Amino acid sequence: MPLPEKNNRVIITSALPYANGDLHIGHLLEHVQTDIWVRLLRSNNITCHYVCASDAHGTPIMLRAKELATEPEKMVEEFRSSHMKDLGSFNISHDNFYTTHSEENKYFSELIYNKAKESGFIESKQIEQLFDESAGLFLSDRYVKGTCPKCSAEDQYGDNCEICGAKYEAAELINPVSIISGQKPVVKTSEHVFFKLSKLETKVANWMKATPLQEAVKNKLEEWFQQGLKDWDISRDSPYFGFEIPDMPGKYFYVWLDAPIGYIASLENHLRAKSDESAEEIWSETANTEIYHFIGKDIMNFHALFWPALLETSKFKKPSNVFVHGFLGLNGAKMSKSKGNFLSMRDYLDILDADYIRYYLASKLSPSIDDIDLNYDDFQKKVNSDLVGKFVNIASRSAGFLKKNDNQIGNSIDREFYENFISSKNEIINLFADLEYSKAIKEIMKLADSANAYVDEKKPWILARDEKNRDEVIKIASTTINLFRVINTYLKIVIPDTCSKGESFLNKKSGSIDDIDTPLTNHKLDSFSPILNRLEDEKLEALIQRGSNG
Ligand code: 2FM
Ligand code: ZN
Repeated sequence: MPLPEKNNRVIITSALPYANGDLHIGHLLEHVQTDIWVRLLRSNNITCHYVCASDAHGTPIMLRAKELATEPEKMVEEFRSSHMKDLGSFNISHDNFYTTHSEENKYFSELIYNKAKESGFIESKQIEQLFDESAGLFLSDRYVKGTCPKCSAEDQYGDNCEICGAKYEAAELINPVSIISGQKPVVKTSEHVFFKLSKLETKVANWMKATPLQEAVKNKLEEWFQQGLKDWDISRDSPYFGFEIPDMPGKYFYVWLDAPIGYIASLENHLRAKSDESAEEIWSETANTEIYHFIGKDIMNFHALFWPALLETSKFKKPSNVFVHGFLGLNGAKMSKSKGNFLSMRDYLDILDADYIRYYLASKLSPSIDDIDLNYDDFQKKVNSDLVGKFVNIASRSAGFLKKNDNQIGNSIDREFYENFISSKNEIINLFADLEYSKAIKEIMKLADSANAYVDEKKPWILARDEKNRDEVIKIASTTINLFRVINTYLKIVIPDTCSKGESFLNKKSGSIDDIDTPLTNHKLDSFSPILNRLEDEKLEALIQRGSNG
């Protein structure tokens, strides 16, 4: 896949985390995947806007605030600020981390809704839903449990049976019980607003055909098309924490209507603070803009069916691609707080450097939507053997030879070796561009092996015993430090903290990946100090302890 066009505007998003709980390393997987791509673009001189936000609306947010005896607005702001802090500590380079509970988002939600309505894609109808009389709430499928009407399995949610796979309406459950109050709900009628997705099948199918989606994503979408796209219920009854629908008092936009619109709102908020441009202009159907969403596989329908359809009817630009990843498991099992297999981002940061896990996740990521596992032993081995044993080692074993040269890279290096070494630059860039991070990391580590093999073969420590070899030793070390610089430049998009320490040692910041086309000669280095330490057993043990405390 080619990188975005340099002259186009580029908008990149990670899915908006709900503002009702701590972020965990599953969220991190997605943000690291996005951030590496964003940094890849920036290091290729492609300007992009990377926006995200807190997903602030919906029943779970409303109920959680109630549980905490606070107002949802206040709770959302608190989570937003703690999420921003956590993501910032992992060097996720958002341009803006906003909130969907904002004026901008209200404006764009109403605008998009009104445009869809004007073009005839909005319809209201009466529906029957389960209602919890003691809580005074309509119950979504996740808040009702009962016996499966097909196989009689007990304790099943209101939308489908985990035992026999049957899909049904919540009202069909036998002996339904509200999870909120434990009471038996009643069936009640209410007017709901629908977005007429069924009328947009061809439009969405055309978008899908024209978009280079991952194969597995296409296959999943095909399944939905085969069943036929159904109209989408975009309203919820009061009480609900969200935006009230214009001209419909007591009815609110369903959180999934305004959540993706939050991408546009976050961009708008960012642009207003920085430039004369507006999100309405640069997200418009006719703008030269590329839009890329990074998401998990559980929310494909929202981003690859509903979202392009909504954008179509409101004349906004549809995504250039939707990049989908699998879930992150922990030591071979699904992450679950209640089962004591869970690692929050904060817990991780209390113990370890961000770069260790950024590197590990990158080494596991690919365009597949299969799940990924964080295996603690593998994690420690990879960090210690690749980053410390191979990458940092190149600099640490060579820096000493230049000390006698006043820490100065000499005027000559082994050009042929260097040119050959950088010849895989485009291949590495392309692998990252194609989301083949795991393969890119393997290529980079092959380079680290070859740099180390170069030193092994030249044996500067033996040559250095004889003063007459001084120039030769300086040339070998100067070459090796340049090889280190090449890898440091590649890895900067993956492990930015470590590589900026690498740049301090090199006494040279890299603005772009192409900087490596010109090696450093006659260049003064800073004195070397280890830029990354081994991941020691005690630290890993502490992390495992945290992870198993839930
Ligand atoms: O699934 C989730 O965690 C949602 N909060 C993601 C929203 S992404 C976007 F559409 F807003
Ligand atoms: Zn069943």
